Amino acid sequence: MPEEPISPTWQPTLAPPQVAEQAQPTLAPPQAPQVVATIAALGQFEGQSITLRGWLYNLRESGKLLFPIFRDGTGTVQGVAHVKSVSAEVFAALKGLTQESSVIVTGKVRADQRAQGGFELDIESLEVVQRVPESDPYPITLKEHGVDFLMEHRHLWVRSPRQSAILRIRAEIMRAAAEYFDTNGFIRTDPPILTPAACEGTSTLFPVDYFGDPAYLTQSGQLYIESTALALGRVYSFGPTFRAEKSKTRRHLTEFWMIEPEVAFMDLDGLLELAENFLSHIVQSVLKNRALELAVIGRDPAKLEAICPPFPRLRYDEAAAMLNQAHKDGHLEQAFEYGNDFGSPDETWLSSQFDRPVMVHRYPADVKAFYMEPDPADGRYALCVDVLAPEGYGEIIGGSQRVSSYELLNSRIEQHNLPKEAFQWYLDLRRYGSVPHSGFGMGIERAVAWICGLDHVRETIPFARTLHRIYP
Ligand code: 4AD
Ligand code: MG
Repeated sequence: MPEEPISPTWQPTLAPPQVAEQAQPTLAPPQAPQVVATIAALGQFEGQSITLRGWLYNLRESGKLLFPIFRDGTGTVQGVAHVKSVSAEVFAALKGLTQESSVIVTGKVRADQRAQGGFELDIESLEVVQRVPESDPYPITLKEHGVDFLMEHRHLWVRSPRQSAILRIRAEIMRAAAEYFDTNGFIRTDPPILTPAACEGTSTLFPVDYFGDPAYLTQSGQLYIESTALALGRVYSFGPTFRAEKSKTRRHLTEFWMIEPEVAFMDLDGLLELAENFLSHIVQSVLKNRALELAVIGRDPAKLEAICPPFPRLRYDEAAAMLNQAHKDGHLEQAFEYGNDFGSPDETWLSSQFDRPVMVHRYPADVKAFYMEPDPADGRYALCVDVLAPEGYGEIIGGSQRVSSYELLNSRIEQHNLPKEAFQWYLDLRRYGSVPHSGFGMGIERAVAWICGLDHVRETIPFARTLHRIYP
């Protein structure tokens, strides 16, 4: 079979508009198939007639002229229809057409400096696929709406150019994150979602009835990928994770996506290098592949261009000293109590002091997870890291070197009152060929919020799950 030319930007229509005419016996020369283009790719078709499939985003009418704006998921474009340039039926169908009616529209692509995207469409014909009735109009008009209303209509809100752009950037972040590991010798291994025990503390577990026995939705794949790391060397996992967080902050979801690498024979220093290279790759990929979307949401690329290794490294003690000073200088309301984990305002302040992500390492072992290796130089500290995104975004990555001694891990499990039976397999990893190993987890939504410059994680995922929302 001859290969069809494959271009990522256009495809022949499944049902070319001309098919019906071509079926008639005719002596006319065969027509070139009508090209179905996407709005993002209009630049390749200047001067040509193409077909777009999408929705009516907005319509301006000025007597004999109609200026519809179409969207198709890749962008928006303004069309122009003059009463004399299109058939009476087409003009009538377009005039008064309601917002979000679905359409198939054919027109000629014309370069226009003033147009967003640089092109306009001189409309030739239009087919309305479904007309939204006036009696039941699209609920999200182009005026401002409150966030609660928009979240209640999230299934429709995702159509707005800004929300679509955010989702496209999210997809690029996920793609680039997986690409980084896939091209650096990591094997993706998928941990279970239904688990018998906690990974990140018992207070945020979502219980599930597992045929009469208690089970929980996973909080992190870490414990399981420690196992696959000792099998395969370098691994990562990427999937949904759950936290029954009763917190109502702009950083917390109850369901979010985490990407987690885990590496055998890696120490904390190696992990810090991995984290800075990984994050830089993601940010540079977004700059390269999603420049248009960044412009749509008004994100200044200069802030992102600065993201390249090396990232500043800060011991917990140094960070604590900075927080004390900030409190003395009146930048922080609450005094920071040495020995605690950082609160949201502390992280916000710390991370606004740097133009790159800052890597805070060696927290007091007491405030961190049971699986973290103590610092051999001073056992009161853990070999761990939190990466805080700049501009006040706070923690986006948490990770550590893992306890490698069987005895220590066993006593930690006891101290933390964790169910010993459930952790026997995890202890086995220290019984049979234990090695130093390290890993981290990055929440995709926190990364999207930072890279897009959003105030709240609820806009970073198609359907956010939070303390008070599980609809739609
Ligand atoms: O710091 P956390 O709790 O670390 C872990 O779960 C480790 N087991 C990961 C590992 O070492 N493999 O979570 C990791 C990241 C955080 O830095 C944050 O980006 C994100 O997951 N995260 C959340 N994102 C949204 N909503 C929440 N409630 C989140 N909790 C954690
Ligand atoms: Mg953390």
